[in-house]
Amino acid sequence: MDREHFYAIMNGEGTLDYELYLNTKALLSCQKDFHEFCNRDELQFQIVHQIEELWMKLIGYTLLDVDDYMAQENTNRVVTLMRRVHVALRLMTEQLALLETMSPKEYQEIRLKLGNGSGQESPGFRVILKMPPHLWETFRSSYLDKHGLTVEQIYNSGYTHGGAYVVAEALCEFDELFQRFRYVHYQLVERSIGTGAKSLKGRSVEMLREGQRVRFFPELWEIRSHMTDTWGASYGVVRDSIGGH
Ligand code: HEM
Repeated sequence: MDREHFYAIMNGEGTLDYELYLNTKALLSCQKDFHEFCNRDELQFQIVHQIEELWMKLIGYTLLDVDDYMAQENTNRVVTLMRRVHVALRLMTEQLALLETMSPKEYQEIRLKLGNGSGQESPGFRVILKMPPHLWETFRSSYLDKHGLTVEQIYNSGYTHGGAYVVAEALCEFDELFQRFRYVHYQLVERSIGTGAKSLKGRSVEMLREGQRVRFFPELWEIRSHMTDTWGASYGVVRDSIGGH
């Protein structure tokens, strides 16, 4: 196929209503010119990162709504919007697999073009990282304090599977899926550049492991251990078999 011919028409004219509404002219110009790519993988590399930024923008925007609806105790809205956040996070994680179709050597060529840029500079990632303390504060005041409830009660001693529990589980899932993104991203890093190398900021990629240990809502994780400790009685004791043997 004649590449130049298809390059010329690939970005469209940008004049039809579909193109105008979606602003395809700007959108499809966000990638380097076809002739500037250092290799045939670079378009994919740019597009995956750009799409991930868009999902993170959507997640951040949606979490602002979640915060408003939690303040109103509008649980149905919170649950629906948290599901949107969860789906977007799953997509973000799934899409990392695209970059595993790029060979380590081709990535090295692209990496030379990144200056000292790092995922840590991602505006979407940074804004999401700032939100959990605010979300927790709103959840605590609206769903717990206002009703004289504690995390322990909604999960254990006063458990009713009520609104507070359902919202807490949605927050927990957000936390878990974010960790999963970090974990799969770490695997991608291992696969692309190895984990013994220095990053473009000069720090070891091992620092990414620290991020994997961050919990947005530690209370929601601690309650599980607390319950296991209190329900499980003592450790090291062999219990009777449920079959009576
Ligand atoms: C071949 C593909 C990729 C490689 C080799 C790679 C490599 C790295 C490395 C080495 C770091 C640590 C940076 C530092 O120490 O300053 C990092 C961080 C990061 N990368 Fe990637 N990355 C890749 C793809 C992606 C993609 C597609 C995203 C999409 C969002 C992404 C998002 C991030 C984020 C958000 C961080 C900061 C993580 C944190 O602070 O926990 N990366 N990446």
